[in-house]
Amino acid sequence: MLSPTENPMRPTLFIVTAVAAVLAARSNPPAVPFPEGFREWAHVKSGLIGPTSERFAGLGGLHHVYANPAARRALADGQWTDGAIIVLDRFEALEANGDTKEGKRLSLDVMVRDSARYSTTGGWGFERFAGDTRNGVVGANAANACFTCHAAQANPRMVFTSWRP
Ligand code: HEC
Repeated sequence: MLSPTENPMRPTLFIVTAVAAVLAARSNPPAVPFPEGFREWAHVKSGLIGPTSERFAGLGGLHHVYANPAARRALADGQWTDGAIIVLDRFEALEANGDTKEGKRLSLDVMVRDSARYSTTGGWGFERFAGDTRNGVVGANAANACFTCHAAQANPRMVFTSWRP
């Protein structure tokens, strides 16, 4: 019997596996991690997207945008370095007697800047975490679900939000 090192199929198998891994890595960008500690970051702005907005289906509700220190600097100087993270924390908008309050969390949208890892989506990793969970719902579908719309935004590096001093 051949030992594993003598098996003539071994180099071929190795190459096939390696090529498959490279192709898989290309088509599926690495997962975007949950942005631990984002509530301690700089609050950039808040917004309300109501039912009459054309964006209500995907972005409706009351939202707050936070930037980590690298993203906070980039919002000011336009230099988006790897490691910048910006999030959009979105809640149901509850209205009663003319007041609008936060209801339950609908989603946490995350953009992570890493020009090499996420080169197929403009150097940004995109993910949406559902409600209060850490379950990403976009995964390998980021190009369609997030990137195409953000790519149309010419503002530095596909970010819609700007810094108001
Ligand atoms: C149809 C267009 C569209 C799609 C699709 C979209 N976004 Fe956005 N995104 C926006 C707009 C517009 C804003 C700015 C919202 C506001 O006015 O505060 C935004 C804001 C953001 C922000 C805050 C930073 C910024 O650019 O202002 C993050 C983070 C974000 N989106 C992530 C995502 C993720 C993750 C997905 C995919 C699940 C996604 N977006 C899909 C249009 C889109």
